Amino acid sequence: MAGWFNVAPVAEFLPGQSRQVEVDNVMVAVFNIEGEFYALEDVCTHDGSPMLSCGLEPKQLIDGEQLICPRHGARFCIKTGNALTPPAFEATYKLPVRIEDGIVQVTDDRWN
Ligand code: FES
Repeated sequence: MAGWFNVAPVAEFLPGQSRQVEVDNVMVAVFNIEGEFYALEDVCTHDGSPMLSCGLEPKQLIDGEQLICPRHGARFCIKTGNALTPPAFEATYKLPVRIEDGIVQVTDDRWN
């Protein structure tokens, strides 16, 4: 089991913001959308590009509730991980998020 990894204190992770965290060698993108936290594997299912961790500013990659792949422009729903536009057709993995003692945490439950 991967266990839970700290992302940031809730008080420092405001609506509209995002964070990147490595969970057992997997890059994970974490988002605060209107006070709710969501986490996606930060890998585009079209051709494996990093998305939030690609080096561009988050404002260039996030459009409301959508994450945009910088390589060919596929869009993913931040809340579900679903691919919304070609050339991606498969969802990127959505990870569980919790708040523990005021800290936003994520885990990769695929290996449990
Ligand atoms: S690698 Fe993401 S759209 Fe092609």
